[in-house]
Amino acid sequence: MSSVRHLIEPTDLTQQEIEEILQLAEKIIEKPEAYANACNGKLLATLFFEPSTRTRFSFEAAMLRLGGRIIGFSEPNSSSVAKGESVKDTIRTIACYSDIAVIRHPKEGVPRLASKYSDIPVINAGDGGHQHPTQTLTDLLTMRVLKKGLEHPTVGFCGDLKFGRTVHSFVKTLAKQGEAKYIFISPPELKIPEYIKEELPEGSYVEISSLDQAMEELDVLYMTRIQRERFLDEGEYMRLKDCYILNNEKLEHAKEDMIIMHPLPRVNEIADEVDKDPRAVYFQQAKFGMYVRMALIIKLLEMEGK
Ligand code: CP
Repeated sequence: MSSVRHLIEPTDLTQQEIEEILQLAEKIIEKPEAYANACNGKLLATLFFEPSTRTRFSFEAAMLRLGGRIIGFSEPNSSSVAKGESVKDTIRTIACYSDIAVIRHPKEGVPRLASKYSDIPVINAGDGGHQHPTQTLTDLLTMRVLKKGLEHPTVGFCGDLKFGRTVHSFVKTLAKQGEAKYIFISPPELKIPEYIKEELPEGSYVEISSLDQAMEELDVLYMTRIQRERFLDEGEYMRLKDCYILNNEKLEHAKEDMIIMHPLPRVNEIADEVDKDPRAVYFQQAKFGMYVRMALIIKLLEMEGK
C-alpha cells in the first residue's frame, strides 16, 4: 500500500487488497499471539460523533491486541467540537498525536472530508446512511469462514435497505467479488437506493416485500434494524419498526446450512429464541469484526506481524 491510505468506501481498496486483508485476518485468527506486538508504539484515535458498541470497541480491542495504544472520544461534547471546532481542525489536531484515526459521524461524507486534511490514515466507521466499509470487511470474513467454498450465493437483505449503510457497502463489494443473487426484502418505503442497484449486473437481483417468500432459497439471510435515528417522521418509524420479525417458525422453511447475519445492534427484528439456532452467526460475526480490523490496521500502517 502507498504511504497514506484511507478507507472511506469499500472501493478505496482493490479486490487484491481486500483479499490480502481477509487472508491476514484468517492468519490472525489461527495464531493471534504472532501479532501481539505488530503495532507496538503506535496509537489509534477513535472519534465517534455517533453511538457505537461493536465498531468502537472492536477497533480499540484490535489495536490493544496488536500491542498498540488508543485515545479518543465517544461523546463529542467532551471534545472542542462542543465549542464549535470544525471536523477538519479536529482531524488536523488528532493527526499530530496519533498514527491512525477512526471516525464515525451522522453526516454522510464527513470521514471523506476529514481524510482530505489528514496525513495519517482515516477509516470511516460509518457515515450517516451512506457507507460502513469495515462492517463490509467483517461481513466478507464471516461469509468466507462460515460459507467456505460457496461460489454463487443467494443472499437476502431484509429490513431497512434505504438507510442501512452496512447493506450499501456490502452489496457494492459483493458485486465486485463474483456472481451472486441478491434478494432485497423491504417495505416499499425502505427500498435499496438506485445508486446501489446500478452496481449490480442486470438480472442478478429481485425486490420483494415478503421474507417468507424468499426464505427457502437463501444461503445467507442478512437482517437489519429499522434505523430510527434516520427517520424525519417518528410516526413513520412507529408504523414500520416491526415490519419483519425473524422467529423460529419463519426459519422452518430455511435451508439447514443457511447462515443468519446481522451487523447489530438488533431491536425487534430477530426474536431472542433464534439465538440458539446454529444458523444464527451474528455474535460470531461481531468477533470476526475485531480480527478483520486487526488485519486492516496492520495493512494501513504498513506493518508486518512477526
Ligand atoms: N455494526 C455496527 O456498526 O455496530 P455499532 O453501531 O454498535 O458499532
